[in-house]
Amino acid sequence: MRVLVTGGAGYIGSHTSVELLKEGHDVLVVDDLSNSSPESLRRVAELAGRPAEFIEANVGDAAALDAAFVSFRPDAVIHFAGRKAVGESTQLPLLYYRENVAATVTLLEVMAAHGCGRIVFSSSATVYGSASEPPFAEDAPTGATNPYGWTKHMIEQILADAAAADQELAVAVLRYFNPIGAHESGRIGEDPKGVPNNLLPFVAQVAAGRRTGLQVFGNDYPTPDGTGLRDYIHVVDLAQGHLAALARIGEGAGCHVWNLGTGRPLSVLEVIEAYQKASGVTIPYQIVARRPGDVAASYADVSKAERELGWRAQRSLDQACADTVRWQSNNPDGYAG
Ligand code: UFG
Repeated sequence: MRVLVTGGAGYIGSHTSVELLKEGHDVLVVDDLSNSSPESLRRVAELAGRPAEFIEANVGDAAALDAAFVSFRPDAVIHFAGRKAVGESTQLPLLYYRENVAATVTLLEVMAAHGCGRIVFSSSATVYGSASEPPFAEDAPTGATNPYGWTKHMIEQILADAAAADQELAVAVLRYFNPIGAHESGRIGEDPKGVPNNLLPFVAQVAAGRRTGLQVFGNDYPTPDGTGLRDYIHVVDLAQGHLAALARIGEGAGCHVWNLGTGRPLSVLEVIEAYQKASGVTIPYQIVARRPGDVAASYADVSKAERELGWRAQRSLDQACADTVRWQSNNPDGYAG
């Protein structure tokens, strides 16, 4: 299949591109490199044994996208590109609505103009908010508490409406839990710009000596050790979930929603301990106040994805930590090195 991958130079996009190429698909990456490096695509080619094509463009650029569809003639799109920092979204909401919501509308219009009827979308477990208790099944109530979350929620609605109106359109909405880890080769991984927002990249930088210590945001949650529980999924498992979803929506039109997680809740302290074991380094940390907007626990009910996609996460937290250590120690400055 010919697959156009938006945001394919980024963390999850690069790992998914490797899996697509290895399975024999042709890949065109469309990425504006605003939060990624072209070096990741050189390494994707090295790992897959053949390259993805690449166009440097923002998905909101209708003319560039149109040209990409003319030249590449994709059968399907996997749409990763978008902004993803919760805090930034509260400061720059219009940027988030433009680059996430409006750009997705542009993408759907260009797809329709070229008769491309298959799309896999990167949504987030953030849409479950705190309206119900985990494990979250796909039919749990949804909402959002910040502009980033609303963009994911709105795009899901737009995709459902577009699929309802177009009997030829097949949509997979994938709700990611907490992606972690790196390719086992240590050649590609997560390369956050500035101070990492997420737990694992922060822990990795502390272990590597780039930061002095970790702040643990609260130990008074109603959880076994008082710290937040999350569902950490290895990025290669996540990537493989996209291939399963892409194959499944090839069977017919309609809009489908699947959780991609492990179903296994892990605490912040368990993650720190696993990283210490993998790295052999003690991670200094300090318990501080809860981070505004955090929920006590978020983890997936994975039964629908298992049943309908024949997919389940295979890799453990220990493996994800070992792979992150390898990526971090081989690339102390990320792709910039
Ligand atoms: N945490 C710390 N210290 C840190 C960073 C995180 O203690 O320096 C804790 C958090 O409080 C939370 C856990 O580690 O309990 C995980 O936090 P992350 O920031 O790594 O992940 P979140 O679950 O908050 O966020 C992720 C995605 C978001 C998405 C959200 C809900 O990064 O995009 O899940 O699905 F919105």
